[in-house]
Amino acid sequence: MDIITTPSYEALSKEAASYVSRKVQKNPHIVLGLATGSTPTGMYEQLIKDHITSGTSYQNVTTFNLDEYVRMNKKNPNSYYAFMEKHLFQHIDIQNELTFIPDGMSTDPQMECSIYEEKLRKHGPIDLQILGLGANGHIGFNEPGTSFSSRTHIVELTDSTRKANSRFFKDIDDVPTHAITMGIASIMEAKEILLLVAGANKKKAYEQLLYGEVSEDFPASILKKHPCVKILADQSVLDTSSIIA
Ligand code: F6R
Repeated sequence: MDIITTPSYEALSKEAASYVSRKVQKNPHIVLGLATGSTPTGMYEQLIKDHITSGTSYQNVTTFNLDEYVRMNKKNPNSYYAFMEKHLFQHIDIQNELTFIPDGMSTDPQMECSIYEEKLRKHGPIDLQILGLGANGHIGFNEPGTSFSSRTHIVELTDSTRKANSRFFKDIDDVPTHAITMGIASIMEAKEILLLVAGANKKKAYEQLLYGEVSEDFPASILKKHPCVKILADQSVLDTSSIIA
């Protein structure tokens, strides 16, 4: 794993955006795997700035999002569909038909998982997958204990994840109980992975990722087995590591 540490969240976001936009410029038909949550929002902001100022085009870019809540209408501001529109898609020249997010409103969520895998097979593999890190080590919504061989599936969210995500909702009871997520094996098929880690609440998880063993009890640990992972971590998750960017 290639690790870059940055002095601030802003520096992390700029570094991540510059990495992604260079990849898009080099391969205008790139397939990107995208994450929602707090961590990548700064990167998306920078990508929008870059699109406006440097003209980086997303006309031929395909995107796959990691996850979506079950029984969450696209129009609900807490849906990951709405998140992506707000934080990225509506500001760039991406084609709607080339942005894929699991359909949380499908009448048959199980079938939706198979359909999503089929789309990944058809349009993939993902060239560059962006990931955030859950405080309990989850990636996507793959909670501790998820099989490393899992494909896109329905998950029951843990209390800790629902609590963490309740900051976006009026009340914790409004946080959905289930989500559709790409599985760990689906994520590991990406050619390259960029993991963003920011915020003091990720310090323990970050340490476990670096120094712990590879175990299904800590889903992110599988990344150690991927041939091409880059980690961008900001100062708040560090103890003594040197800052190089
Ligand atoms: C989001 C996702 C999650 C988040 C993780 C960290 O699509 O799949 O795994 O990346 O929960 O979330 P934040 O960035 O909000 O701390």
